[in-house]
Amino acid sequence: MSEDGISSLDIESLRADTPGTLHNIHLNNAGAGLMPIPVLLAIKEHLDFESQVGGYEASDKRESEIRAVYEALGSLIGSDPENVAITENATASFIQALSSVSFKAGDVIVTTRNDYASNQIMYLSLQSRMGVELVRVPEDPLGGLDVMAMEEAIHRRRPKLVAVTHVPTNSGLVQRVADVGAMCSQRDILYLVDACQSVGQMPVDVRDIGCDFLSATARKFLRGPRGVGFLYVSDRALDLGLEPLFPDMRAADWIDADLYQPAHGAQRFENWEFPYALVLGMGRAAEYAIDLGIEAIRDRAWALAAMVRDRLSEIDKLQVLDRGIEQCAIATVSVDGHNSSDLVASLAEAGINTSLSTREYAVLDFDDKGVDSAVRISPHYYNSEEEIEQLAETLYKIVN
Ligand SMILES: Cc1ncc(COP(=O)(O)O)c(C=O)c1O
Repeated sequence: MSEDGISSLDIESLRADTPGTLHNIHLNNAGAGLMPIPVLLAIKEHLDFESQVGGYEASDKRESEIRAVYEALGSLIGSDPENVAITENATASFIQALSSVSFKAGDVIVTTRNDYASNQIMYLSLQSRMGVELVRVPEDPLGGLDVMAMEEAIHRRRPKLVAVTHVPTNSGLVQRVADVGAMCSQRDILYLVDACQSVGQMPVDVRDIGCDFLSATARKFLRGPRGVGFLYVSDRALDLGLEPLFPDMRAADWIDADLYQPAHGAQRFENWEFPYALVLGMGRAAEYAIDLGIEAIRDRAWALAAMVRDRLSEIDKLQVLDRGIEQCAIATVSVDGHNSSDLVASLAEAGINTSLSTREYAVLDFDDKGVDSAVRISPHYYNSEEEIEQLAETLYKIVN
C-alpha cells in the first residue's frame, strides 16, 4: 500500500483501460464488474476469428490459448490446470459439484445462515426429494458462521457435505472458509465453497481453503464477461471417482455402448459446448488480475468499501448492515423511511450504478437484520475516491 494507505495501483491508467468509467460511476461490481480493454479485445478478436474461419476451426486453431485459460485460472486460485473445469456460471459449477455427491436419505449437509439463495434452494430440493437433512450453523455475535458451532456440527453430525459461501451476495461478510476447510480435511468430509463473490476481489487459494470444490463466475470482481464461470475440483474428489450426475460427452471416455469411464481430471465436470470467445475473455481477466497483484486489488477495493461505509454512516437514518470481523468490497445499507428500490433508481438517474438486494436473496440474513431490502454498493480497485464522495453527496441529497 502507498502512503495514503489505500493503493499501490496506478488508478489513472487502470481507469483509462476501463471504458465504462467514462460513462457512469460503477459501484455494482458484485453484479458485474466493468471489463478492461484487454478482456474486451480477447472476446472480440475470437468472435471475429470464428466469423472468418468457422467456430470449430477457430477453437482448434486456438488450442494452446484455450489451454492457457486453465493455467491462468489455476494460478489465480492455487490449483493445477487439470483441476479446473469451465462452466457457464457459478450456479452451473455449484450444480455440477453438488450433483456428484451421492446423497441418500438421512445424509446431512452442514451449511450456514449466509449461503447464496440458489444454493439454499438446492439443499431444500435435496431435502424434499431425497430426505437429506440440512443443518445451518448459527452465527457468531459479530457476524459470520460461529466456528465452534461449525466444529460441533461437523463432529456430531458427520455430514456428507459441508457447503459455505465465502462472501455472500448481500453483505460485506467474509466467511472463515479456511477454518472450516481444516475441520473437513481432518475428518475426510467433502467441502464445497461458493467463491462467486470472492474470486477477483481477494486472494482465494484452494490449498489454504482446503476445499474439494470451489465454484466461481467470470463477470463479477474478476471483470470477465457474462455467461462463463469455472469450478475447481480437488484430487481427492477426483480420486474418489466423483463425477456429475449427468456427465456429457466431454465428461466421459467411452469404452463401449454399455460402459464409460469418467474423463481424466476436472474435465469430467464440463459440458461439450463452450462460448470460446467468453472462455478466452475469462482467461484474460484472470491474467489481468494476477498481473496487477491480487493483494493490491484487495487492499484498494476493501479500503474503498470501508470509505463507503464510513461516509454513508454519517447520513442520518442510514444503517450500514455489513457484519463480520473482516469486511470486503460489498457494502450494504438501508435508510429508514426510504424504499431501497427507489434509492437504487434515484442513484441510477444520477449516473451511479448500485444494485438492490431483496429479502429473497438472503431470507435468513435479512430477517436476522430486520430489513427486507438493501442498497448494495460494491466498488472495485478502479473506482476513485471522488466517486465515493459523489455517491455520499448524492445519497445525502436524495434522503434529505
Ligand atoms: C454468492 C453468490 N453465489 C452464486 C451466485 C450465482 O452466480 P451465477 O449467476 O454466476 O450463477 C451469485 C450471484 O450473484 C452470488 O452472489
